[in-house]
Amino acid sequence: MLPSALLAVALATSATARCSRTFLNDAIDSYLAAQSKGEPTALFTLTDNFNYTEQFKPANISSGILSKALQIDHNLSIKDPVLCTAFTELIVLDPGHPYVIGTRMELDGQRIKKIETLVTDEGDWLFNATGYAYYSSLENWDIIPEDQRDSREVIQAAGDAYFNRFADANITVPFGTPCARLEGGAYTGGRNISANTCNLGLPSTIKVVDRRYVVDEEMGAVNIYVGFPGLDRASKEPGPDSHLFRVEKGKLRYIHTVSTCEGHPGCGLSNTTFVPGRTA
Ligand SMILES: *[C@@H]1O[C@H](CO)[C@@H](O)[C@H](O)[C@H]1NC(C)=O
Ligand SMILES: *[C@@H]1O[C@H](CO)[C@@H](O)[C@H](O)[C@H]1NC(C)=O
Ligand SMILES: *[C@@H]1O[C@H](CO)[C@@H](O)[C@H](O)[C@H]1NC(C)=O
Ligand SMILES: *[C@@H]1O[C@H](CO)[C@@H](O)[C@H](O)[C@H]1NC(C)=O
Ligand SMILES: *[C@@H]1O[C@H](CO)[C@@H](O)[C@H](O)[C@H]1NC(C)=O
Ligand SMILES: *[C@@H]1O[C@H](CO)[C@@H](O)[C@H](O)[C@H]1NC(C)=O
Ligand SMILES: *[C@@H]1O[C@H](CO)[C@@H](O)[C@H](O)[C@H]1NC(C)=O
Repeated sequence: MLPSALLAVALATSATARCSRTFLNDAIDSYLAAQSKGEPTALFTLTDNFNYTEQFKPANISSGILSKALQIDHNLSIKDPVLCTAFTELIVLDPGHPYVIGTRMELDGQRIKKIETLVTDEGDWLFNATGYAYYSSLENWDIIPEDQRDSREVIQAAGDAYFNRFADANITVPFGTPCARLEGGAYTGGRNISANTCNLGLPSTIKVVDRRYVVDEEMGAVNIYVGFPGLDRASKEPGPDSHLFRVEKGKLRYIHTVSTCEGHPGCGLSNTTFVPGRTA
């Protein structure tokens, strides 16, 4: 091989992985430890221009949710070595104050650059931590065998198609059968486990904005943070929202959401139960 070809190979390799899965795993462990202990200082080193948000608004990490020791009953994480990002879903069943928390981290290979946390509890979209834990426990988020994995492009495209469909009825979303959607604690999957569908009808006038990704080829998963217009009927602002998609053979298998309703119980739909194909 010519030296220039060797160099090209080296560059291509370094462009694919900006940080290792081990490093991301350590960062996630530091996050879990910090949240368990209620000690933000247990986190990995932060960059000088580190940013922290809760519900997509700048917040003080020292007095935010990480300063509360929480008994974590369930955690699920995905890691993206290419973007050097990670996402963790936490469920806290403490009857005194249950939570479902989504946390997205951006790193630089050594330090944490940004943490965006979505803290959901009573009053947030379809909130029911018990339901979230129960339905999660029925699902299989194991590592996908190497010879059955989709590429990161395919995985991300499946998640993007779902959001693109909200603005355009002509988009075909690769829904699998079965497919189950877990929102807050409500499940579309309970009806018929072998024939579940996520294709329950979607609106087609909503432009889902500001997408931020974590793509994990080993888990067949993509997490997308978005601003979701119309999620909160009582607000004109796009709602803070996280969608975690499990993709198997190019098709959506599970969808988990964490969506907060800023000061509007139930996002302006208090006391409603799950409405298939809710239209905003
Ligand atoms: C952040 O919270 C800590 C702990 O409550 C407090 O000591 C500090 O003053 C706060 N910082 C800002 C900028 O409000
Ligand atoms: C996170 O979940 C894994 C199993 O998936 C478990 O082994 C680990 O103890 C959990 N961590 C915390 C802090 O709860
Ligand atoms: C943190 O936010 C500030 C202000 O928006 C921005 O200038 C800075 O680049 C951000 N830092 C990171 C690591 O994104
Ligand atoms: C929450 O989910 C659990 C488990 O599915 C269910 O038994 C319970 O009735 C739900 N609670 C509410 C308020 O919907
Ligand atoms: C969807 O397809 C129909 C029929 O081809 C077309 O009339 C319509 O303009 C398309 N809608 C969008 C948003 O592209
Ligand atoms: C579940 O769906 C399958 C496939 O459509 C169907 O054969 C089966 O009868 C359904 N089961 C129930 C309990 O509805
Ligand atoms: C929701 O239901 C509770 C209990 O039934 C009731 O007290 C409350 O007024 C309801 N809230 C709204 C906004 O309808």
